[in-house]
Amino acid sequence: MPHDLCRRSIVELDHNGSLCTLAGLNPAAPEHSVAVIFKKTFKGNYPLVPVWSDHLSTVTAIQGGKPLEESINDIYSSARKYQILQDALEDFPLTSDVILFDTPASLEPMGSVALAACTHVLAPIKPEYKDTGSFADLLDWYYEKVRELRLKPQPKLMGFAPSRVAVDKAVHRNILGIPKKGEVGLKVPEEDTLPYQIQQLDVRCFQPIRECDYYLWASGVGLPLQLYRPGCTFSQDFDPIIDCIVDLITKK
Ligand SMILES: Nc1ncnc2c1ncn2[C@@H]1O[C@H](COP(=O)(O)OP(=O)(O)OP(=O)(O)O)[C@@H](O)[C@H]1O
Ligand SMILES: [Mg+2]
Repeated sequence: MPHDLCRRSIVELDHNGSLCTLAGLNPAAPEHSVAVIFKKTFKGNYPLVPVWSDHLSTVTAIQGGKPLEESINDIYSSARKYQILQDALEDFPLTSDVILFDTPASLEPMGSVALAACTHVLAPIKPEYKDTGSFADLLDWYYEKVRELRLKPQPKLMGFAPSRVAVDKAVHRNILGIPKKGEVGLKVPEEDTLPYQIQQLDVRCFQPIRECDYYLWASGVGLPLQLYRPGCTFSQDFDPIIDCIVDLITKK
Protein backbone atom coordinates (compact mmCIF):
# COMPACT_ATOMS: atom_id res chain seq x y z
CA MET A 1 0.00 0.00 0.00
CA PRO A 2 1.45 3.44 -0.88
CA HIS A 3 2.19 5.46 2.31
CA ASP A 4 -0.25 8.21 1.41
CA LEU A 5 -3.23 5.83 1.23
CA CYS A 6 -2.53 4.34 4.64
CA ARG A 7 -5.14 5.49 7.19
CA ARG A 8 -3.42 6.54 10.39
CA SER A 9 -4.87 7.43 13.77
CA ILE A 10 -2.97 8.95 16.67
CA VAL A 11 -4.36 8.21 20.13
CA GLU A 12 -2.86 10.60 22.67
CA LEU A 13 -2.69 8.92 26.08
CA ASP A 14 -0.58 11.71 27.54
CA HIS A 15 -2.16 14.35 29.75
CA ASN A 16 0.46 16.91 28.64
CA GLY A 17 -1.55 17.43 25.44
CA SER A 18 1.51 18.05 23.18
CA LEU A 19 -0.56 16.94 20.20
CA CYS A 20 -2.31 20.33 20.35
CA THR A 21 0.97 22.05 19.50
CA LEU A 22 2.31 19.40 17.17
CA ALA A 23 -0.90 19.25 15.12
CA GLY A 24 -2.16 22.81 15.57
CA LEU A 25 -5.32 21.78 17.47
CA ASN A 26 -7.26 23.47 20.26
CA PRO A 27 -7.40 21.60 23.59
CA ALA A 28 -10.23 19.06 23.53
CA ALA A 29 -13.19 19.26 25.92
CA PRO A 30 -13.55 16.06 28.00
CA GLU A 31 -16.48 14.80 25.87
CA HIS A 32 -14.36 15.18 22.71
CA SER A 33 -11.20 13.63 24.16
CA VAL A 34 -9.79 10.14 24.64
CA ALA A 35 -11.34 10.24 28.15
CA VAL A 36 -14.68 9.09 26.63
CA ILE A 37 -13.15 5.70 25.75
CA PHE A 38 -12.53 5.00 29.44
CA LYS A 39 -16.16 5.61 30.43
CA LYS A 40 -18.49 2.66 31.12
CA THR A 41 -20.98 4.35 28.75
CA PHE A 42 -18.56 4.20 25.75
CA LYS A 43 -20.33 2.76 22.71
CA GLY A 44 -17.71 3.18 19.98
CA ASN A 45 -18.18 6.89 19.27
CA TYR A 46 -14.46 7.63 18.96
CA PRO A 47 -13.89 11.41 19.04
CA LEU A 48 -11.65 11.41 15.98
CA VAL A 49 -10.52 14.75 14.57
CA PRO A 50 -8.77 15.16 11.21
CA VAL A 51 -5.21 16.44 11.49
CA TRP A 52 -3.06 18.23 8.91
CA SER A 53 -6.17 18.11 6.74
CA ASP A 54 -4.93 20.92 4.47
CA HIS A 55 -2.28 18.43 3.34
CA LEU A 56 -3.67 14.94 3.97
CA SER A 57 -7.03 13.24 4.28
CA THR A 58 -5.77 10.06 5.91
CA VAL A 59 -4.65 11.12 9.39
CA THR A 60 -6.97 11.44 12.38
CA ALA A 61 -6.36 11.85 16.08
CA ILE A 62 -8.03 11.34 19.41
CA GLN A 63 -6.80 14.01 21.75
CA GLY A 64 -5.60 13.48 25.31
CA GLY A 65 -4.54 16.37 27.51
CA LYS A 66 -6.13 17.53 30.76
CA PRO A 67 -9.35 15.44 30.48
CA LEU A 68 -7.18 12.35 31.00
CA GLU A 69 -6.66 13.30 34.63
CA GLU A 70 -10.17 12.05 35.45
CA SER A 71 -9.62 8.85 33.42
CA ILE A 72 -7.30 7.43 36.05
CA ASN A 73 -10.32 6.78 38.32
CA ASP A 74 -12.32 5.29 35.41
CA ILE A 75 -9.44 2.91 34.60
CA TYR A 76 -8.87 1.73 38.18
CA SER A 77 -12.60 1.32 38.84
CA SER A 78 -13.21 -0.75 35.69
CA ALA A 79 -13.32 -4.54 36.07
CA ARG A 80 -10.43 -5.24 33.66
CA LYS A 81 -8.41 -2.07 34.39
CA TYR A 82 -5.41 -2.00 32.01
CA GLN A 83 -7.38 -3.94 29.37
CA ILE A 84 -9.96 -1.17 29.06
CA LEU A 85 -8.60 0.25 25.77
CA GLN A 86 -7.91 -3.20 24.34
CA ASP A 87 -11.53 -4.17 25.10
CA ALA A 88 -12.91 -0.96 23.53
CA LEU A 89 -10.94 -1.56 20.32
CA GLU A 90 -12.07 -5.18 20.21
CA ASP A 91 -15.73 -4.26 20.72
CA PHE A 92 -15.60 -1.24 18.40
CA PRO A 93 -12.67 -1.59 15.94
CA LEU A 94 -11.20 1.59 14.51
CA THR A 95 -11.03 1.52 10.73
CA SER A 96 -7.37 2.59 10.58
CA ASP A 97 -4.43 0.72 9.07
CA VAL A 98 -2.07 2.05 11.73
CA ILE A 99 -2.96 3.25 15.22
CA LEU A 100 -0.26 5.08 17.11
CA PHE A 101 -0.64 5.27 20.90
CA ASP A 102 1.41 8.09 22.36
CA THR A 103 2.16 7.45 26.03
CA PRO A 104 3.76 9.63 28.69
CA ALA A 105 7.23 8.83 29.99
CA SER A 106 5.77 7.61 33.30
CA LEU A 107 4.22 4.31 32.28
CA GLU A 108 1.62 3.96 35.05
CA PRO A 109 -1.19 3.53 34.09
CA MET A 110 -1.20 4.68 30.45
CA GLY A 111 1.83 2.66 29.35
CA SER A 112 0.15 -0.52 30.59
CA VAL A 113 -3.18 0.49 29.03
CA ALA A 114 -1.42 1.05 25.68
CA LEU A 115 0.66 -2.13 25.99
CA ALA A 116 -2.46 -4.26 26.42
CA ALA A 117 -4.03 -2.66 23.33
CA CYS A 118 -1.04 -2.57 20.97
CA THR A 119 0.65 -5.01 18.63
CA HIS A 120 4.14 -3.43 18.71
CA VAL A 121 6.19 -1.20 21.00
CA LEU A 122 8.53 1.52 19.73
CA ALA A 123 10.54 3.44 22.31
CA PRO A 124 12.55 6.61 21.76
CA ILE A 125 15.75 6.80 23.78
CA LYS A 126 17.91 9.82 24.55
CA PRO A 127 21.66 9.43 24.04
CA GLU A 128 22.54 10.63 27.54
CA TYR A 129 24.33 8.58 30.18
CA LYS A 130 21.47 9.06 32.65
CA ASP A 131 19.02 7.59 30.10
CA THR A 132 21.08 4.80 28.59
CA GLY A 133 20.16 2.37 31.38
CA SER A 134 16.50 3.14 30.79
CA PHE A 135 16.29 0.70 27.89
CA ALA A 136 16.94 -2.14 30.35
CA ASP A 137 14.29 -0.71 32.72
CA LEU A 138 11.80 -0.50 29.86
CA LEU A 139 12.52 -4.08 28.85
CA ASP A 140 12.04 -5.26 32.46
CA TRP A 141 8.73 -3.38 32.62
CA TYR A 142 7.65 -4.83 29.24
CA TYR A 143 8.37 -8.47 30.16
CA GLU A 144 6.76 -8.09 33.57
CA LYS A 145 3.58 -6.48 32.19
CA VAL A 146 3.23 -8.93 29.30
CA ARG A 147 3.34 -11.74 31.85
CA GLU A 148 1.12 -10.09 34.48
CA LEU A 149 -1.52 -9.04 31.98
CA ARG A 150 -1.44 -12.43 30.21
CA LEU A 151 -1.23 -10.66 26.84
CA LYS A 152 -1.91 -13.12 24.02
CA PRO A 153 -0.67 -12.57 21.41
CA GLN A 154 2.18 -10.71 23.06
CA PRO A 155 2.86 -7.23 21.71
CA LYS A 156 6.25 -7.34 19.98
CA LEU A 157 9.17 -5.04 20.61
CA MET A 158 9.67 -3.11 17.39
CA GLY A 159 12.77 -1.49 18.81
CA PHE A 160 14.42 1.59 20.24
CA ALA A 161 15.00 4.81 18.32
CA PRO A 162 17.76 7.10 19.64
CA SER A 163 16.28 10.57 19.27
CA ARG A 164 17.52 14.17 19.24
CA VAL A 165 21.00 12.99 18.35
CA ALA A 166 23.63 15.68 17.70
CA VAL A 167 26.35 13.99 15.67
CA ASP A 168 28.70 16.92 16.35
CA LYS A 169 28.60 16.09 20.09
CA ALA A 170 31.35 13.67 21.12
CA VAL A 171 29.19 12.29 23.93
CA HIS A 172 26.37 11.34 21.53
CA ARG A 173 28.86 9.76 19.12
CA ASN A 174 30.47 7.76 21.92
CA ILE A 175 27.17 6.52 23.35
CA LEU A 176 25.85 5.56 19.92
CA GLY A 177 29.12 4.38 18.34
CA ILE A 178 29.10 6.90 15.51
CA PRO A 179 32.58 7.66 14.06
CA LYS A 180 33.59 11.33 13.87
CA LYS A 181 33.10 12.84 10.41
CA GLY A 182 36.14 12.09 8.25
CA GLU A 183 37.45 9.45 10.69
CA VAL A 184 37.19 5.69 10.63
CA GLY A 185 36.83 3.65 13.79
CA LEU A 186 35.28 4.39 17.14
CA LYS A 187 36.75 6.13 20.18
CA VAL A 188 35.03 3.63 22.51
CA PRO A 189 34.83 -0.19 22.44
CA GLU A 190 31.80 -1.30 20.43
CA GLU A 191 30.50 -3.31 23.43
CA ASP A 192 30.08 -0.04 25.34
CA THR A 193 27.77 1.49 22.75
CA LEU A 194 24.02 1.64 23.19
CA PRO A 195 23.03 0.03 19.86
CA TYR A 196 25.36 -2.91 20.59
CA GLN A 197 23.88 -3.42 24.06
CA ILE A 198 20.32 -3.20 22.75
CA GLN A 199 21.02 -5.62 19.89
CA GLN A 200 22.68 -8.06 22.32
CA LEU A 201 19.22 -8.43 23.85
CA ASP A 202 17.82 -9.33 20.45
CA VAL A 203 16.04 -6.01 20.12
CA ARG A 204 16.40 -3.69 17.14
CA CYS A 205 18.05 -0.30 17.52
CA PHE A 206 16.98 2.02 14.72
CA GLN A 207 19.31 4.57 13.19
CA PRO A 208 19.59 7.84 15.14
CA ILE A 209 16.96 10.55 14.64
CA ARG A 210 19.17 13.62 14.38
CA GLU A 211 18.53 16.79 16.37
CA CYS A 212 17.40 19.59 14.09
CA ASP A 213 15.77 22.96 14.71
CA TYR A 214 13.39 22.46 11.78
CA TYR A 215 11.28 20.21 14.05
CA LEU A 216 10.85 23.15 16.40
CA TRP A 217 9.91 25.51 13.57
CA ALA A 218 7.52 22.90 12.21
CA SER A 219 5.83 22.39 15.59
CA GLY A 220 5.46 26.18 15.85
CA VAL A 221 3.02 26.00 12.94
CA GLY A 222 1.48 22.68 13.98
CA LEU A 223 3.06 20.55 11.26
CA PRO A 224 5.30 17.49 11.14
CA LEU A 225 8.66 18.10 9.49
CA GLN A 226 7.67 16.04 6.42
CA LEU A 227 4.90 18.55 5.63
CA TYR A 228 6.75 21.66 6.82
CA ARG A 229 9.81 21.00 4.64
CA PRO A 230 8.96 18.30 2.08
CA GLY A 231 12.10 16.48 0.98
CA CYS A 232 14.14 17.64 4.00
CA THR A 233 16.92 15.09 4.46
CA PHE A 234 16.41 15.01 8.25
CA SER A 235 12.99 13.38 7.70
CA GLN A 236 14.75 10.41 6.12
CA ASP A 237 15.98 9.40 9.59
CA PHE A 238 12.49 7.95 10.09
CA ASP A 239 12.57 5.83 6.91
CA PRO A 240 13.63 2.54 8.58
CA ILE A 241 10.80 2.92 11.12
CA ILE A 242 8.29 3.71 8.37
CA ASP A 243 9.54 0.74 6.30
CA CYS A 244 9.13 -1.52 9.31
CA ILE A 245 5.51 -0.37 9.86
CA VAL A 246 4.69 -0.66 6.15
CA ASP A 247 6.09 -4.21 6.18
CA LEU A 248 3.92 -5.07 9.16
CA ILE A 249 0.70 -3.87 7.57
CA THR A 250 1.39 -5.18 4.08
CA LYS A 251 2.64 -8.63 5.12
CA LYS A 252 -0.34 -9.30 7.44
N1 LIG B 1 14.98 15.31 16.30
C1 LIG B 1 14.59 16.44 16.90
N2 LIG B 1 15.27 17.61 16.73
C2 LIG B 1 14.88 18.73 17.35
N3 LIG B 1 13.80 18.83 18.13
C3 LIG B 1 13.08 17.72 18.34
C4 LIG B 1 13.42 16.47 17.74
N4 LIG B 1 12.51 15.55 18.14
C5 LIG B 1 11.65 16.19 18.94
N5 LIG B 1 11.98 17.50 19.05
C6 LIG B 1 11.26 18.51 19.83
O1 LIG B 1 11.35 18.22 21.20
C7 LIG B 1 10.11 18.44 21.85
C8 LIG B 1 9.64 17.18 22.54
O2 LIG B 1 9.64 16.14 21.58
P1 LIG B 1 8.66 14.94 21.65
O3 LIG B 1 7.26 15.45 21.68
O4 LIG B 1 9.04 14.00 20.58
O5 LIG B 1 9.10 14.29 23.03
P2 LIG B 1 8.28 13.85 24.30
O6 LIG B 1 9.27 13.27 25.24
O7 LIG B 1 7.13 12.99 23.90
O8 LIG B 1 7.78 15.23 24.87
P3 LIG B 1 6.41 15.63 25.55
O9 LIG B 1 6.63 15.43 27.01
O10 LIG B 1 6.23 17.06 25.17
O11 LIG B 1 5.33 14.73 25.02
C9 LIG B 1 9.16 18.93 20.77
O12 LIG B 1 9.10 20.33 20.85
C10 LIG B 1 9.80 18.49 19.48
O13 LIG B 1 9.53 19.38 18.41
MG1 LIG C 1 5.15 13.03 24.12
